[in-house]
Amino acid sequence: MASANAQPADAATQQPDTAGRPSDPPASGDRPAASDAAKGHGGQGGERLDQAHDVWHIRVRELHKRFGDNHVLEDINFDIARGKVNVVIGASGAGKSVLVKHFMCLLRPDAGSVWVDGTDIFALSTKDLAQFRRKFGMVFQFAALFDSLTVEENCAFPLREHTKKGKGEIRDIVRDRLAALGLDGTQEKFPGELSGGMRKRVGLARALVLEPEILIYDEPTTGLDPLATQNVDDMILAASERYRVTSVVISHDMASVFRIADRIAMLHDRRILMAGTQDEVRQSDIEYVRRFITTSGVSAVEARKNFRDQRTT
Ligand SMILES: Nc1ncnc2c1ncn2[C@@H]1O[C@H](COP(=O)(O)OP(=O)(O)OP(=O)(O)O)[C@@H](O)[C@H]1O
Ligand SMILES: [Mg+2]
Repeated sequence: MASANAQPADAATQQPDTAGRPSDPPASGDRPAASDAAKGHGGQGGERLDQAHDVWHIRVRELHKRFGDNHVLEDINFDIARGKVNVVIGASGAGKSVLVKHFMCLLRPDAGSVWVDGTDIFALSTKDLAQFRRKFGMVFQFAALFDSLTVEENCAFPLREHTKKGKGEIRDIVRDRLAALGLDGTQEKFPGELSGGMRKRVGLARALVLEPEILIYDEPTTGLDPLATQNVDDMILAASERYRVTSVVISHDMASVFRIADRIAMLHDRRILMAGTQDEVRQSDIEYVRRFITTSGVSAVEARKNFRDQRTT
């Protein structure tokens, strides 16, 4: 079982094998030997953080963040699995958004580091950071589309801003992303003419046009009804499978979490209380984790089974 930050000795024995395959993250393997982090060494078997890792895409070490007296994150250590759907859960105000904003350096920590593919992102120059951020796509809670632009224009916008691609090529890329998310035919519509769920899909299509390696979703299903929520879950899985991106999803919604997550990390009381596979979370004997799941009223097994059944019919 992946365990709380308070168990470093145990955790160190669970460090992932560097020979692990991307398709097969080891269970409970995301506990670092934190004390060596600042030097770029994971500490286990000479593993280095300053080299890209087959299994772990983003590696967070000894991260601390406070806003004035509000100590939001304390000694955060965990890893995000490459090509998987990684979900961060936790109560409202626990610091999920703050944590994830560090991944693309939208916030800087008071201490600690985030390594992405072996790069210490907080050490990058402003110019290098701008380039580095292109690894990331972000899907915002309310889609954040331009209301005065059509769906096609919204999706073309990042390509026009950041690439030298011609009109025809841009149109093809946008059409491909919209079709992949079941949005074919919406090109000429304005965001105001779409439902909330469709707007979120357009937000994802726009995030996908620059072919990010990592997609971050901050509460993608908030404010949606259960069917629209499933629709967005389906879209997250479709993007994950088709484009093989590493997904980081912040969510409150346990039904949704159990449908989509390969790995789950729970943020509680400033720390990662536990991180692991669905099974590990489901079988956790940590009281708070159990309560969080039980109170949501969701049976993880049922949520996942029902969803899988629907996707295959
Ligand atoms: N830019 C900021 N300046 C000051 N305080 C902030 C800032 N951003 C977040 N906070 C504080 O950090 C804490 C964690 O906020 P955060 O938005 O990460 O919570 P969350 O877990 O994402 O909650 P929710 O589920 O409601 O979105 C809160 O106390 C919040 O007030
Ligand atoms: Mg938030």
